[in-house]
Order: sequence, then C-alpha cells, then structure tokens
Amino acid sequence: MKVLVTGGAGYIGGVVAQQLLAGDHEVVILDDLSTGHDDAVLAGAQWHEGSIAAAGEVLDSSFDAVIHLAAKSLVGESVQHPERYWHGNIVASLALIDAVRAAGVPRFIFSSTAAVYGTPVSDAITEDHPTAPINPYGASKLAIDHMLAAEAAAHGLAAASLRYFNVGGASDGLSERHDPETHLIPNLLRAAAGGGEPAKLFGTDYPTHDGTAVRDYIHVLDLADAHLRAMEQIRPGTHEVFNLGTGVGSSVREVLDAVETVTGRRVPVTEEDRRPGDPATLVASGEKAREVLGWTPRRALVDIVRDAWEHL
Ligand SMILES: NC(=O)c1ccc[n+]([C@@H]2O[C@H](COP(=O)([O-])OP(=O)(O)OC[C@H]3O[C@@H](n4cnc5c(N)ncnc54)[C@H](O)[C@@H]3O)[C@@H](O)[C@H]2O)c1
Repeated sequence: MKVLVTGGAGYIGGVVAQQLLAGDHEVVILDDLSTGHDDAVLAGAQWHEGSIAAAGEVLDSSFDAVIHLAAKSLVGESVQHPERYWHGNIVASLALIDAVRAAGVPRFIFSSTAAVYGTPVSDAITEDHPTAPINPYGASKLAIDHMLAAEAAAHGLAAASLRYFNVGGASDGLSERHDPETHLIPNLLRAAAGGGEPAKLFGTDYPTHDGTAVRDYIHVLDLADAHLRAMEQIRPGTHEVFNLGTGVGSSVREVLDAVETVTGRRVPVTEEDRRPGDPATLVASGEKAREVLGWTPRRALVDIVRDAWEHL
C-alpha cells in the first residue's frame, strides 16, 4: 500500500515507517519537525517537511492509507496552553481529514491515547470504558476519535483509533527524544547514565501495592505492529477503537528496579508529590486487539528498558 505517515520524523512514527518499509509498503512522511528530527526520517521513505494542515498538497488518489501520528502531546502544556491543542490537534486533524476525503483515501489509522479515559473506574480498561478526559490533550484526541467515527459513518472511511498506553523501548536507531522528556523510563535511564538531575518519582502514597502509580508499558515495536494489522483489516464505513497495552501493570518502583537491573547501576531519585491529574492505575485490556487484529504484544518491561538503554 502507499501510506502517508504523519509524524514520521517522531519517535513512534519513525518505527511505524520502519515496519511499513520492511513490509514492502510505499511510505510518504509528512512532518513539520516541531518535535521530530529529520535524521529520524528513513532512507526509502519520501519526505515532505510541512504541517498536516497542508496535507491537501501531498495527498492524491494514489494513496491507500493515512497513519496519523503527528500531534502535540504534552499533558502539562495542554493545561497551560489549551488553544495550542485545539489548533494543533483538532483543527489541523480536521484539515487532514478534509484532505483525505477530497483525495478519496480509503483508510485512516489514528494515534489516540489512554488519556481519553481520564480517571479509570475499572481495573483493566476496555474500549467501552467511559471516556472522560481530565486535560485538553486527552480531550483533543477524543474529539478526533469522534470526528473519525462520524466521517466513517457519513462518508465510508475505514478508520481506527489506536489508544496507546505507555509506550517505550527503541528500534534500530530510533528512540525517544522528547524535549522536555516527561516519560519515566528515559528519565530513569538518563539518571542512571549520570551527570544530570536525579529522576523524580511523583507520588508514593497511591492506593497501590507499593504506593507508586501503576502503568501499562508497551514496546514501540509491538505497538507499531498493531498499526499495520489495523490498516490491513479495517473495513469501509466503520470506525474501530483498540486499546493497545499488555494488560500487565508495573509500578514506578518496579520500573525503577528493572532499570537498576538492566543498567547494573543505582539510579538517583527524589520522591515528589503526586502530579495533578495522574490516576493511581492505568492498565489496558488488550483483549479486543488480540481477538480482532490477532495482535499479541511479545515484549516485556525488561525488553523495553534494555532496548531503550542500548539506544540512549
Ligand atoms: N509516546 C507515548 O507514550 C504516547 C502515548 C499515547 C499516545 N501517543 C501519541 O502518539 C503520537 C506520536 O507520539 P511520539 O511519542 O512519537 O511523539 P513525537 O513528538 O516524537 O512525534 C510527533 C511528531 O509529529 C510531528 N508533528 C507535530 N505536529 C505536527 C503538525 N501539525 N504537522 C506535521 N507534523 C507534526 C512532530 O514534529 C513529531 O515528529 C502522538 O500523536 C501522541 O499523542 C504517544
């Protein structure tokens, strides 16, 4: 298939593009480099530097699919500057969907997030868990999920929203390079490498087995694989939602233990208050993706930490 990958110069988009190329797909990347890196654009992919708001200049009827990863994705920034998320995520994605409709591109895979669920009311989060985002980032992603559902119903698009839980790990030279980095694993690894600040553990009084927050960590290689499966299996006129996680929760202290084991180093940490809006536990039920897409995450927390450490 010929696939437009928005955000393909970013962390996850780069790995998705890598797997598409390995699967003999034709890859076109559209990225404005606002948080991405041009050295992450793979040889073998066509490359357009620009905003998704101008996707109409790139798309035509020769495309079979769009995989839409480009977004602003900092929760804290979204609280302080919500307008950046309404424009950068909702308005720009609407322009992309308009361009997809105008060009007649039949398939659309979207990077959604567990943040659409807000504070969970059940242990393993299924796709029919109530959506109640508690920050503009999650709200902007949920709005795009709704746009895609309506687009599929009204105009026959085959669409899927993939709701990622906590993504980590690395693949063949592609690793997390967010600035600022708000994710636990790269921050623990940087602290392990030394020379910088201690890593911060936010919240040690949660109602969990060791008092720290529990999250579901998914390897970026497993995550990327779900995109190819969804792209191949979605049907016209439908919008499917899939939660992408392993179904296994790991606490912040368990991640810290894994980092110390993999690196063989003691990680300097400081214990901080809880961050507002961080739920105690966020774990996916991966059942639907398993059943419908035949998707099975194969890598565990230790693999995520090891691969990220090797690419630090
Ligand atoms: N990393 C995670 O744990 C996680 C979890 C849930 C959801 N997501 C979603 O996955 C996607 C990718 O995340 P990532 O961690 O790879 O982030 P990233 O910042 O590394 O990649 C995003 C890419 O999109 C590009 N971009 C942003 N706005 C753009 C625009 N308007 N036009 C063109 N390009 C634009 C950036 O330059 C960057 O290359 C995002 O949509 C994010 O919300 C990530």
